[in-house]
Amino acid sequence: MTKILVLYHSNTSNTKRMAELIAEGASQLSDAEVRLRSIEEADHLDLAWCEGIALGSPTNYGCVSWQMKQWWDQQPIENWGQRDGKIGCVFSSAGAWGGGQEWTCMSLLSILINYGFLVFGLTDYSGVRFSAHYGAIAAGPPEEDREQDACRRLGLRLAEWTATMIHGRTESHPLNQTYDRFKDLGQ
Ligand SMILES: Cc1cc2nc3c(=O)[nH]c(=O)nc-3n(C[C@H](O)[C@H](O)[C@H](O)COP(=O)(O)O)c2cc1C
Repeated sequence: MTKILVLYHSNTSNTKRMAELIAEGASQLSDAEVRLRSIEEADHLDLAWCEGIALGSPTNYGCVSWQMKQWWDQQPIENWGQRDGKIGCVFSSAGAWGGGQEWTCMSLLSILINYGFLVFGLTDYSGVRFSAHYGAIAAGPPEEDREQDACRRLGLRLAEWTATMIHGRTESHPLNQTYDRFKDLGQ
């Protein structure tokens, strides 16, 4: 099984909805086992269990929420450096476009990199002039098709990379897929 953890914090369910879409996308890979957990539900055993993680937070003042930061701050220090080589990606909802989603993605990536995860973003386009290069982003709830597609694609890509990098399943490599990766590119 390819073990995927979608871990999120959400105050008003917008990031939670993104997490659900990402979990849905990860489940598109045959043999993926997906755990969807809020930080209230998850603990260090979920980090130990997973092989790939999608980490999401609302954008709070252009940064990761204090609750998500606290969750990582309170991880048992002896586990730091023991999770190296797992695959990671990130997502965030802010109140508005330009509200700091990508800043938040960068702070989430920073946490994952520091913890030893190998991180990635999407080259794919999920709509006209719309990508998730640094992670999936939304303004408020992910209501638009392009936002939802980006979330699903990020989850699928996480499962693909995890299957490829952790299990050596070369058929799961993104470049071996037949679906359209550059929807509406160039318009
Ligand atoms: C303390 C706080 C800080 C916020 N800071 C920002 C911000 O910097 N930029 C922005 O666009 N929205 C900001 N927002 C709005 C949230 O990012 C937005 O409502 C988001 O969709 C909430 O996601 P959630 O439902 O998962 O909690 C902030 C909200 C709160 C409560």
